[in-house]
Amino acid sequence: MLGLPGIQTTKTIVEEYSASAEIVLHPGDVNRFVTSVPDGLVSLVITSPPYNLGKDYEDRVSIEKYLETQASLIAELHRVLRTDGSLCWQVGNFVEKGEVYPLDILYYGIFKRFGFRLRNRIIWRFGHGLHASKRFSGRYETLLWFTKSDEYVFNLDAVRVPAKYPGKRHFKGPKKGQVSGNPLGKNPSDVWEVVARDWEEGLWDIPNVKANHPEKTEHPCQYPIELVERCVLALTREGDWVFDPYAGVGSALIGAIMHNRRAMGCERELAYVRVARERIHAYFEGTLRYRKIGTPIYQPTGREKVAQVPTEWREQEQRRLLEKREDYQ
Ligand SMILES: C[S@@+](CC[C@H](N)C(=O)[O-])C[C@H]1O[C@@H](n2cnc3c(N)ncnc32)[C@H](O)[C@@H]1O
Repeated sequence: MLGLPGIQTTKTIVEEYSASAEIVLHPGDVNRFVTSVPDGLVSLVITSPPYNLGKDYEDRVSIEKYLETQASLIAELHRVLRTDGSLCWQVGNFVEKGEVYPLDILYYGIFKRFGFRLRNRIIWRFGHGLHASKRFSGRYETLLWFTKSDEYVFNLDAVRVPAKYPGKRHFKGPKKGQVSGNPLGKNPSDVWEVVARDWEEGLWDIPNVKANHPEKTEHPCQYPIELVERCVLALTREGDWVFDPYAGVGSALIGAIMHNRRAMGCERELAYVRVARERIHAYFEGTLRYRKIGTPIYQPTGREKVAQVPTEWREQEQRRLLEKREDYQ
């Protein structure tokens, strides 16, 4: 068993799986590493796989070839999962010559082939991003939550969120007058807005604000630790193994360690492995900067300079109105 919740104790990070390990971060290819993981060990596989988008760390291949490679890894992930375990696969779109391929839909058939059962298709929504000019701007990604069987861990109480109207009461029937909600809060639903403005701006690499972002590292495609924490809390128990096959800068490992789970990850880019190790150490030292789970989403007050209509637009509008008035005179 790991330490008490919230108590930070340094743990050794090892590179290969062993029965006594608590944190494994393997620098290398996951397809080789996964073969060393015992059958039925892992309670949660959570990852954001390479999207085949031609990022610094990936070679772009055809969508068919990409999915074929992923299928052989998914077979192994099925093998290492416990019978009551879960798999969370976070993806966006693959875009080729302006055409959008929704990766979660393309992946779904592969997971079904291995007998996985879909429990939720979670929409992870964010308010900012690049503005498209030939289609509507993309503002969400999806997280497919599958279980290996019908007997699975789901701790709803651990992830309830504050209800909008906690004072709501039944207005008819035998419970008339009684409080209708749950004192622990409501079910967070399958639409998650777990990110604040600063995360989104960092994610989409808007200069000036990048340095202000609490979690942002040199990795071009991190997910927020908070996204992982919700899955870890809901889908695993203390001491369980959480595995991110494409660990990047270690966000999933940190989300697991924070809640006294054992963490395993694999990353083939050594620069990201280094950052992941640094972030895990920073967590134990209490210096890791991250957005705390449940922090309210930033809502502009209207007083911020960026929330105001630019003076140029107001002047243009005044000139247009004056011209219109002159036309009528
Ligand atoms: C989308 S990123 C994951 C980022 C991660 N969720 C985070 O928050 O840092 C995918 C990662 O998979 C790594 N990767 C790609 N193919 C790999 C392979 N065959 N074995 C191990 N890592 C791989 C890439 O280097 C990249 O860092």
